[in-house]
Amino acid sequence: MTMFEKAFHSEDISDKKFLVTGGAGFVGSNLVEYLLKHGAGEVRVLDNLSNGYHKNIQDFLTHPNFRFTQADMLDEEVCRQVCQGVHIVFHQAALGSVPRSIRLPLATNAANITGFLNMLVAAKDAGVERFVYASSSSVYGDSPILPKVETHKGNPLSPYAVTKQVNELYAKVFGDIYGIKTIGLRYFNIFGPRQNPKNPYAAVIPLFIYAILDGKAPSIHGDGSQTRDFTFVENAVQANICAAFTKHPEAFNKVYNVAVGDRISLLDLYAHLANIAGSDIQPAFIAPRPGDIHDSLADISQAQQLLGYQPQVNVRDGLKILFDWYKQNRSFIEAE
Ligand SMILES: NC(=O)c1ccc[n+]([C@@H]2O[C@H](COP(=O)([O-])OP(=O)(O)OC[C@H]3O[C@@H](n4cnc5c(N)ncnc54)[C@H](O)[C@@H]3O)[C@@H](O)[C@H]2O)c1
Repeated sequence: MTMFEKAFHSEDISDKKFLVTGGAGFVGSNLVEYLLKHGAGEVRVLDNLSNGYHKNIQDFLTHPNFRFTQADMLDEEVCRQVCQGVHIVFHQAALGSVPRSIRLPLATNAANITGFLNMLVAAKDAGVERFVYASSSSVYGDSPILPKVETHKGNPLSPYAVTKQVNELYAKVFGDIYGIKTIGLRYFNIFGPRQNPKNPYAAVIPLFIYAILDGKAPSIHGDGSQTRDFTFVENAVQANICAAFTKHPEAFNKVYNVAVGDRISLLDLYAHLANIAGSDIQPAFIAPRPGDIHDSLADISQAQQLLGYQPQVNVRDGLKILFDWYKQNRSFIEAE
């Protein structure tokens, strides 16, 4: 399957300028690919490559409508420059990963809170039409209620979750005070092409696939009974596009779950991948990770009603697409 064949918007975007912060990262580079494929007037990326990769944007560099600024969003002036003349900001840049935030709370705070605020101020001052930003299911913290509805509140379990809660607070206040139109997207475990299994804070699906392809046993934290609403990246891109173009008057200054509305345990997920690969390697079980929640499942009805979001790819189909992608792109994955 080729990704992004289908448009998730009906407008002509050939006169629109988009800024994707973190566009050399995993989700951001998929969003850039969609925008360029569907005729965006200009797509700018701001990324300092602290956790992103030049190879993720390599194919876009020769596109006449693509502009890359390698810089840090902790630099206010840079944020102002990249926002000039932009219609829609998709703010993806952040330091992700719960374990990294536990190891590096200051760096996480700087990128995720100060960096976020710099971008929000720059976007407001530039008069952008919309500021769509990546939040996270981690904001639900220790709330045990399933499925997660946007109104549920929980105590954060990690510095990372704190930063995403603060993002949502700032976005709401900026919407109320300055009138900027914000939309926050609470991603639930996104997976897909360009997610790097070799990153020290790699996510579980790329680690599983990479281990299987290498003939090694992957590690599972805990007993593998924990569940997640794993979401193929094409669905996350769709949610961003829906947020950028929704005409629903009630859509703004809100946060939305971005998921499929289904969950799978890590054991079942691994069994499914092993079956795709024809592998009989058994996983190794190691200590549970601090800061992790046991179960996660989203109610996606608010995104369906106000954004028109309708996930197209379920977890099993997404795993098959990704497994084939990894097999065909070993040299891309190995490249620095
Ligand atoms: N991938 C997921 O499952 C998931 C789940 C929930 C939320 N999110 C959020 O979605 C967003 C995208 O996640 P991702 O998985 O693509 O992560 P990623 O690390 O692949 O992409 C983030 C990008 O931001 C860049 N960046 C970080 N700090 C920066 C700074 N100070 N200045 C400029 N660029 C900077 C990095 O270099 C990287 O390319 C992040 O905000 C993340 O917190 C992701």
